[in-house]
Amino acid sequence: MADTPALPRTDEEAAAELKALAAEIAYHNARYHTDDAPEISDGDYDALVRRNTAIEAAFPALVRPDSPSVRVGAAPAAHLAKVAHARPMLSLDNAFADEDVAEFVGRVRRFLSLRADEPVALTAEPKIDGLSCSLRYENRRLVRALTRGDGAVGEDVTANVLTIADIPRELPAGAPDLFEVRGEVYMEKAAFAALNARLLAEAEATSRPARQFANPRNAAAGSLRQKDAAVTAARPLRFLGHGWGEASDLPADTQAGVVAVLRDWGFPIADDFARCDTTDDALAVYRAIEAKRADLPFDIDGVVYKVDRLDWQGRLGTVGRAPRWGLAHKFPAERAQTTLQAIDIQVGRTGKLTPVARLEPVTVGGVVVTNATLHNADEIARLGVRPGDRIVLQRAGDVIPQIVENLTAAEHRAPFVFPDHCPECGSEAVREEGEVDIRCTGGLICPAQRIERLKHFVSRAALDIDGLGEKTIEQFVALGWLKEPADIFRLKDHREAMLALEGWKAKSVDNLIDAIEARREPDAARLLFGLGIRHVGAVTARDLLKHYTTLAAIRELGEALIALRDATTPALGEDAGKHRNRLDKAIAERIGVAQVGAAVGHALADFFHEPHNVEAWDDLMGQVTPPDYVVAARASEVSGKTVVFTGSLETMSRDEAKAQAESLGARVSGSVSTKTDLLVAGPGAGSKAKKAAELGIKVVDEAGWQAIVAAAG
Ligand code: IVH
Repeated sequence: MADTPALPRTDEEAAAELKALAAEIAYHNARYHTDDAPEISDGDYDALVRRNTAIEAAFPALVRPDSPSVRVGAAPAAHLAKVAHARPMLSLDNAFADEDVAEFVGRVRRFLSLRADEPVALTAEPKIDGLSCSLRYENRRLVRALTRGDGAVGEDVTANVLTIADIPRELPAGAPDLFEVRGEVYMEKAAFAALNARLLAEAEATSRPARQFANPRNAAAGSLRQKDAAVTAARPLRFLGHGWGEASDLPADTQAGVVAVLRDWGFPIADDFARCDTTDDALAVYRAIEAKRADLPFDIDGVVYKVDRLDWQGRLGTVGRAPRWGLAHKFPAERAQTTLQAIDIQVGRTGKLTPVARLEPVTVGGVVVTNATLHNADEIARLGVRPGDRIVLQRAGDVIPQIVENLTAAEHRAPFVFPDHCPECGSEAVREEGEVDIRCTGGLICPAQRIERLKHFVSRAALDIDGLGEKTIEQFVALGWLKEPADIFRLKDHREAMLALEGWKAKSVDNLIDAIEARREPDAARLLFGLGIRHVGAVTARDLLKHYTTLAAIRELGEALIALRDATTPALGEDAGKHRNRLDKAIAERIGVAQVGAAVGHALADFFHEPHNVEAWDDLMGQVTPPDYVVAARASEVSGKTVVFTGSLETMSRDEAKAQAESLGARVSGSVSTKTDLLVAGPGAGSKAKKAAELGIKVVDEAGWQAIVAAAG
């Protein structure tokens, strides 16, 4: 981790960060739980959750209803029916050290008031990295299979489970009438690698982006939770039994006894399952399993111990969501040393530059690792890594490995210099004030960002061009017809070639061309928004154009801001923070639009500073003629008049009141004079109200103003 960032100072800052964290964590939850396709490592995810917890601890009043500390995990996949478990599916407490295991046994003894010399036998077995599943047998027939879900309610995966060869459809005669077998559905490491290779080959054959699984557990979850059981059937899923849920009768009175019966019934049981008379024996099993971990065909992340006697399990019961009779003894994160061969910079679909470490191949926990993410420039600086360094790599629970330590001394060697240009398109790459990420500013032309940018450009809130969906954009980009927004208006030149494409008919081609032609005179604000300049959202684009009227004026503004940045050099003795504040103030003043701040100004300057963007802008302006942006004024009794607001307004902000007046064709002034036609006076109006009365100017309160607005319709 980089140095722990300071906590927010104000409620506003804390609320804003908690909101952003809730959204980000929810996003990653959905990638992990619903799509089975995580985008960040477990470590990075944990860091987000820890940050959320730390801020909530400091600002307890700001805990949000959608906070990750309140909600756990993600909603189950929408296509699977939810069914309540007859008995909850529990989780296990974790232990990391031998002493934790001794303490666990000590707690069991105390809880049961056992004599010090009374043996406590434990079972020990591998903790498989899969997803737990409950298989319900009624009258010895498999009637339902549920995933764990949130422990109380699972997802119905019966049809999918029926495709898994390891799972018996029936229990033998003599088995209880009702019995739920619980265990782990998993995918072997080799099968996972083969599946990912197949997904990659299929993606390449259809020129779609490859959707691969991050690890065998996600592959198993993704395969089991398919809508179409035929897809599950084509995925080599396996099952290992480790327990039970509701049962009309138990066939033995120990954990090991019931597990042996499960084996007799035909369920696979872990080869390394063992019954241990003492804690030391259990720890010896742990060591033995740890030693062969890399050679096992499936991923495991620890050893599970359970109190063997079922009468004791019953007395021990559960606390929270975990049984007092069970413990997961986790393996430490696996580490290995290797050489950092190069640091490559990857450009994401949104322009973020991510450094990737290329490593001399090394095996960590049975997996050959050749790459690791370095996250950002700060992480590179923190580790002080440069190509050629020896580093320590760690792989913990997940497959995305982390570099945790640099073994090469830093002395007399130049640090790695993060590029200031995008490796994909050569545009400038900038780091925003207060942000860790460095971004490419050549969004309009950058191949890495092309698809996202074009999608945004044609989206509903921007140019709103029908018939140019993501797939079509991808296809046209692949054909070399689309690189930047202006190309959209040249698509008509490809009409003949388009007709030859599969799935296109004369009607659909002409509809698309007509939809594009209908946007030759686009709304200037939508066009500006469509360019995807950072911080220029739909509302900001409108605010800017209300003030500047034309896109040519926006471009002049951009150039003026570049000049202003160049000219505002630090004064003698002025520190960076003060200089920045002074510059930001000057920028906001130069923009001159109340709601538009310095961040937008910097983004406009960055955008127009990049020659590629200016070229793409000019090219686009050659294709379209957006009319001047004039806010149509509604006819009202204040049209053409001068209005002054005073006192405190209660139902709206001053900015909103001003915008309302302008939209009604009124001028807004700050002071009362003979030219004033109307004074809107809220509570606490002082000298202005007095002066208006003296001059005989009409005065209304806030409600009176609202009536004028409402009358205009
Ligand atoms: S026993 C109350 N045994 O680990 C006991 N669980 O951290 C619950 N798991 O949800 C489970 N291998 O998905 C048990 N040999 C094993 C296991 C195992 C993997 C998973 C299971 C459970 C999670 C708890």
